[in-house]
Amino acid sequence: MARITAGVGSSHVPLLGVAVDQHKTRDDYFGPIFAGYDWTREWEQRVKPDVVILVYNDHATAFDASIIPTFAIGCGERYPPADEGFGPRPVPTVEGHPDLAWHIAQSLILDEFDMTIINEMAVDHGLTVPLSMMFGQPGAWPAKVIPLAVNVVTYPVPTGNRCWMLGEAIARAVASFPEDLNVQIWGTGGMSHQLQGPRAGLLNQAWDNRFMDALIGDGDDARWIDHIEYIRETGTEGIEMVMWLIMRGALGSRTRCLHRHYHIPCSNTAIGHLVLEPLAGYVKGMTGGELGW
Ligand code: DHB
Ligand code: FE
Repeated sequence: MARITAGVGSSHVPLLGVAVDQHKTRDDYFGPIFAGYDWTREWEQRVKPDVVILVYNDHATAFDASIIPTFAIGCGERYPPADEGFGPRPVPTVEGHPDLAWHIAQSLILDEFDMTIINEMAVDHGLTVPLSMMFGQPGAWPAKVIPLAVNVVTYPVPTGNRCWMLGEAIARAVASFPEDLNVQIWGTGGMSHQLQGPRAGLLNQAWDNRFMDALIGDGDDARWIDHIEYIRETGTEGIEMVMWLIMRGALGSRTRCLHRHYHIPCSNTAIGHLVLEPLAGYVKGMTGGELGW
């Protein structure tokens, strides 16, 4: 059967895509940021996921005010990098996994999560920057990608608890796919940042690190953080961190931290990065209860 073998949390700052594309990742500014991903790039080459379920948000690129899906899953064959104003990034086309994606869509909808299904869309920095951070600059991305887009741009955004429950439902969906697949789930976005208004540039290193602490081990306090706390403590764009909770919810009750990195500043935000491994634990509602490894 397919199984989720790891969870990755990462910021998705667009400037990091520019640094990769212009070969500046080792300069004085970007060097300490990218150094924190060296471990992960080497690890990804070793563990070779077949599929990445990539939880991210679209930044008014594929969606705009005319359509605002709370949770959308990409079931298409492929997704081109979007033009976000300076031409598409020179990165490979993202290849989907329609069979697994449609299976997850069916399982989630029958599990009472009313997903929007997307067959055609361009993917912006929210998705392509984490791919560059984790995989570098290959000629083709080494894993299939199932985009899972979350609305964190226009209020109302989903609660942390709803995101956690969606992660649990994704774990149930993956575990019921009969083909042997090594699946990772990535939660991207954050950490503290506010891009506009009088508080633009706000960072909160202590809060960000408490949030990462809360995702490691067997606690689930982070699912109960309410919107106003994210926004007050970490800025309006800090709400992107709810997407890390989908990743964490999919890992079951117990996790181990394989790698952790934090750096400020990067562009207008803080860089946060976690690699988590699910330990034999419990996923709510899964037949048998146990993740089974
Ligand atoms: C920045 C960060 C983001 O997460 C984003 O989506 C856009 C910009 C920034 O810090 O520049
Ligand atoms: Fe963002």
